Amino acid sequence: MCGIVGYVGPQNALDVVLEGLRRLEYRGYDSAGVAVLAEGGMATAKKAGKLANLEKALVEEPLPAATIGIGHTRWATHGGPTDRNAHPHLSADGKVALVHNGIIENFAALRAECETAGVEFTSETDTEVAAHLLASAYAETPEGPGRLAEAMRAVSNRLEGAFTLVASHADEPDTLVASRRNSPLVVGLGETVDGTAEYFLGSDVAAFIAHTREARELGQDQVVEIDRTRGLTVTDFAGTVVEPTAYTVDWDAAAAEKGGHAWFMLKEIAEQPQAVADTLLGRLGDDGGLVLDEVRLSDQDLRDIDKVFVVSCGTSYHAGLIAKYAIEHWTRIPVEVEVASEFRYRDPVLDRSTLVVVISQSGETMDTLMALRHAKDQKARVLAICNVNGSTIPRESDAVLYTHAGPEIAVASTKSFLAQIVACYLVGLFLAQVRGVKYDDEVAAIVEDLRRLPEAVSEVLLQMEPVRELGRSLAGADTILFLGRHVAYPVALEGALKLKELAYIHAEGFAAGELKHGPIALIDQGTPVVVVVPSPRARESVHGKVVSNIQEVRARGARTIVIAEEGDEDVVPYADHIIRVPRTPTLMAPIVTTVPLQVLACEIADTRGYDVDQPRNLAKSVTVE
Ligand code: M6R
Repeated sequence: MCGIVGYVGPQNALDVVLEGLRRLEYRGYDSAGVAVLAEGGMATAKKAGKLANLEKALVEEPLPAATIGIGHTRWATHGGPTDRNAHPHLSADGKVALVHNGIIENFAALRAECETAGVEFTSETDTEVAAHLLASAYAETPEGPGRLAEAMRAVSNRLEGAFTLVASHADEPDTLVASRRNSPLVVGLGETVDGTAEYFLGSDVAAFIAHTREARELGQDQVVEIDRTRGLTVTDFAGTVVEPTAYTVDWDAAAAEKGGHAWFMLKEIAEQPQAVADTLLGRLGDDGGLVLDEVRLSDQDLRDIDKVFVVSCGTSYHAGLIAKYAIEHWTRIPVEVEVASEFRYRDPVLDRSTLVVVISQSGETMDTLMALRHAKDQKARVLAICNVNGSTIPRESDAVLYTHAGPEIAVASTKSFLAQIVACYLVGLFLAQVRGVKYDDEVAAIVEDLRRLPEAVSEVLLQMEPVRELGRSLAGADTILFLGRHVAYPVALEGALKLKELAYIHAEGFAAGELKHGPIALIDQGTPVVVVVPSPRARESVHGKVVSNIQEVRARGARTIVIAEEGDEDVVPYADHIIRVPRTPTLMAPIVTTVPLQVLACEIADTRGYDVDQPRNLAKSVTVE
């Protein structure tokens, strides 16, 4: 939610910043803007709409050459997506340029204070207040090294809410400062060429991955100063110097390119076999035990757990719903799954023997982060499943299992979803093992089932042409319904979410058994109904019941699209279209049945002429509540 880039070094700052913004555009695309500190002072350009609008404007009116610059791509919160509300925002004297990600919750009071002091605001944003405050804090700070950072600390201490701020000041031509609370920011360290060092700031490492993989992770409530001569200094908000955590990014720039695919989403769908395989890689230790990345919990803590909550949002919530089936089945511990935005407000019963599993691709989702903090306040143990190394959610959790899906750029989650399911299953097996409810060889047998999945996903991917054709024929539909039972129910929810977010078609997922309790009234002549059929080997004839549900909707005029495993002939008489997936064990089926639903949504959206990677109104990481 908003992408931020900063640069200090020998290269042309505008080129570096624009390249970074291109890679961060998935974080928001309501407007884009840049500011460079050139010899003549601060120069800015900003435009509503996608980055391409800004780039076009810069061709018509270029900015002067400079070697220090900042940039922003916006997901609007306060104030509409207009040129005026685009970042960077300037102080009244035009000397401070500042970009922001997050929400400054006390901006109204601060704005009133500035207005009383005679400042005229030029935007409706919460951000602009920070630019004015920084200018006045700078004026009040004694001259000397570190002056701008000191002013930034003074401002940060006055702000409430979530913010990453990056700013430069016309009187400090060699310095860039940044501050973070509850919003992400990483530093990239480039090479020193002819004695000139190079530094990057970004909302995530994608901003600078084309230049360096050497990164520094920033903690909560920290201020960064990058100065051409003094280098990098990180302090807390009180001014105490802190050492940022160093890490090397384990993927390269090619991973963040489309690689010949029309959309990032298509590339990421195609990468799913690898994402599943990589998430499994190295998880089985020599002793047959499972290996988590970081566990700050003892085996005794895990044995004491008597209840599990899985808390997450959107697609990650659907992964949690699937996980419930497996974790309860394997461990016999009760599991509740909740959307993070509701979790803390209903005052859930949590204590030291509760394990809260938070799932987040980005590791930044504010709803999930707040749920995590609530759980920790109540003394619950928190285990994070996350795709982005070093992001806030894993950092604040007691234990971490990273998914190794690689960078996911398309706003719609695909490969991270499959990787999350695998990671959740590993957590379930880990718990079962530690608590002694599964023997090591039983765990190893399930891990073997998991290991066969990349091949099964590859098989599905080879059969997607008829699905694309079907997608084209469905592009005119007003409503598409999705049904499933058992683990296929969350898959139906995920299929509907994909379609809503990409194709803007009314879509709903239902537990197939619930249909007769009301939603069946939605079915009209020709209504497309996608039915995800559970394995014929699933328990208590759930398969047979779903076959009956297909007949029920068809009898009412539905056009039935059936996803069923190879060899399931029971569905044939009632299916207008059949999409086949390889035979898998019951709990593994979501890994293969989800794939055609992703392809279907992508194809429908593409046929309708929409931007598949950047759907309207959305952003990849949602860093506001
Ligand atoms: O980064 P997270 O996994 O925490 O994000 C959660 C949701 O915002 C995310 O899954 C969203 O629903 C996706 N756009 C769905 O495709």
